[in-house]
Amino acid sequence: MEVFVSRRLPREGLAALAQAGACSIQQWDSDEPVPRAELLAGVAGKHGLLCLLSDRIDKEVLDAAGPNLKIISTLSVGVDHLALDEIKKRGIRVGYIPDILTDATAELSVALLLAACRRLPEAVEEVKNGGWTTWKPLWLCGYGLSGSTVGIVGLGRIVPLAKLAEESDFVVVTCSLTPGTEGMCNKDFFGRMKKTSVFINTSRGAVVNQEDLHQALVSGQIAAAGLDVTSPEPLPTDHPLLSLKNCVILPHIGSATFATRSAMAVQAAHNLLAGLRGERLPSELQL
Ligand code: GLV
Repeated sequence: MEVFVSRRLPREGLAALAQAGACSIQQWDSDEPVPRAELLAGVAGKHGLLCLLSDRIDKEVLDAAGPNLKIISTLSVGVDHLALDEIKKRGIRVGYIPDILTDATAELSVALLLAACRRLPEAVEEVKNGGWTTWKPLWLCGYGLSGSTVGIVGLGRIVPLAKLAEESDFVVVTCSLTPGTEGMCNKDFFGRMKKTSVFINTSRGAVVNQEDLHQALVSGQIAAAGLDVTSPEPLPTDHPLLSLKNCVILPHIGSATFATRSAMAVQAAHNLLAGLRGERLPSELQL
């Protein structure tokens, strides 16, 4: 069996693959994304593919892989980068990582929320640039979490989105990106939020209409935003959202703890190996 691994991984992941002795491994051994041409050439004839959320696995890649391909294991919980209809049509199985990164991503969501509502990046900047002249009663005040209402988009199915926007002091978006959620946080959504509310997104950038968010932040329709995900990624450094003091943007680091990334890589390896052997996957996406 032959597999293609589309990026350098935490070493425990590659070790789990190699130790199994079940496959020969071709890897794009770099921290940078595999160029499209290398990906297309790399997957040709392979039985398994271990990919990342930044690899677009579409019809072209599946055609390039050919009929041997039986398992795609993604090092992510999100699967919006995979052409699931095409994958299903070809009888290819998909392994993903639904649970391991939950705690790390939840922690990052809280960190981002507090950073945005208490204006931490602005405050750090003031310390560095000499703006901190004395303690001032009205300076760098934000909104506190204690006693507030937090609305989580993606936690359950029972709260109408409009009501959640209207009643929450903090809106935290954690849902998957699907055709149904694309652009869901738009002008209407932000228009329903309170002027004192803070918007957080740790799911996928495309769930948000970024022009509408920019407008809501500039006009004072909402107080602040914290984004761990954007569209596109990376966000161009001259993007209008980056010029706003009330918008904190992180480079998609929700699951980025050493332990989590290592456990994710091992799980992705086990998903891949089980797929190659035709066994039950530790976590299989139901197509
Ligand atoms: C992160 O965004 C993931 O999908 O794992």
